[in-house]
Amino acid sequence: MIDQYNRDINYLRVSVTDRCNLRCKYCMPKEGLSQIGHNDILRYEEILRVVRAGVRLGISKVRITGGEPLVRRGIVDFIARLKSIPGLADISLTTNGVLLKQFADDLFSAGIQRINISLDSLNKEKYAAITRGGDLNAVLAGIREADRVGFAPIKINTVAIKGFNDDEILTFAARTIDKPYQVRFIELMPLGHVGGDNRSKYLSNDVVTGIIRQVYPLEAVNGQRNNVDGPARLYRIAGGQGVIGFISPVSRHFCHACNRLRLTADGHLRACLLLDEEVDLKGPLRGGCSDAELDDLIRQAIAKKPWGHTMIKEERHLRKCVKEMATIGG
Ligand code: 5AD
Ligand code: SF4
Repeated sequence: MIDQYNRDINYLRVSVTDRCNLRCKYCMPKEGLSQIGHNDILRYEEILRVVRAGVRLGISKVRITGGEPLVRRGIVDFIARLKSIPGLADISLTTNGVLLKQFADDLFSAGIQRINISLDSLNKEKYAAITRGGDLNAVLAGIREADRVGFAPIKINTVAIKGFNDDEILTFAARTIDKPYQVRFIELMPLGHVGGDNRSKYLSNDVVTGIIRQVYPLEAVNGQRNNVDGPARLYRIAGGQGVIGFISPVSRHFCHACNRLRLTADGHLRACLLLDEEVDLKGPLRGGCSDAELDDLIRQAIAKKPWGHTMIKEERHLRKCVKEMATIGG
């Protein structure tokens, strides 16, 4: 469906849980978030109904997110059922990778081909520190397994954090020389309860690019529109097998090209990551709404999609975004 700013809304991100087996410092407090009660999490059956309605309105791609999607029971069967929805061309998953080694094979068989793995440090101690206890070796084993099983492309999402991993940018970038991975540097957004703290640790992708270019010349990769792939701008180290991506939500808004809707873990449709305006679907779904009514609610959410956000420049927008990343799904 085309929105009022002529964007083709064809991509739905689905947060299947707000729970996570890590506690990344920029995302969650150490005691975890106050969790959504079991009854308030959308049931798989309900999510499937929303996706079918989305497909009727032009959604062709779904990404499963969390929290950590692999901690929700029954996730593989759910994905297999998603896969059987006619018209849904593409299902992908974002994971922190901790459980990936045991799930990779089943996920692949269930019909996921593309996977994004969040990884902010390649140093064991630092990884444990930023995630508050995560095991780097488990994630690396998960990535190797995903590679072995046949996932392609494998995307590694690295949030650039000043004073934490600015000294690892070259190490991450160099991973793309002999591996066909796409390493994507994401700017730290000042969201949720740690938003203020995140602001002081923000590192712009201009700085990240500068650090890489001092050592490796970067060539633009020609994708769909020049070197742009969704929100990522893509480059390659000359001769490298993989790709380096820059996702810059803070320094360069990509709102004009935003094609997404988000289904939150508690059953609301959200048209923009940064604005708390949502349309409740759970209530109507449980109240027995018809398919036509459901379609109408999705149209309403799309109609609410703003032209864009201004993040840092206009603080009032951020104050509106009180929901946590783990519920929205990134
Ligand atoms: N800024 C940027 N990225 C974030 N993520 C979580 N919180 C933030 C934030 N404040 C990332 C995770 C993961 C993806 C789902 O979202 O690291 O890569
Ligand atoms: Fe979990 Fe992702 Fe948040 Fe880290 S950033 S605590 S992996 S939801």
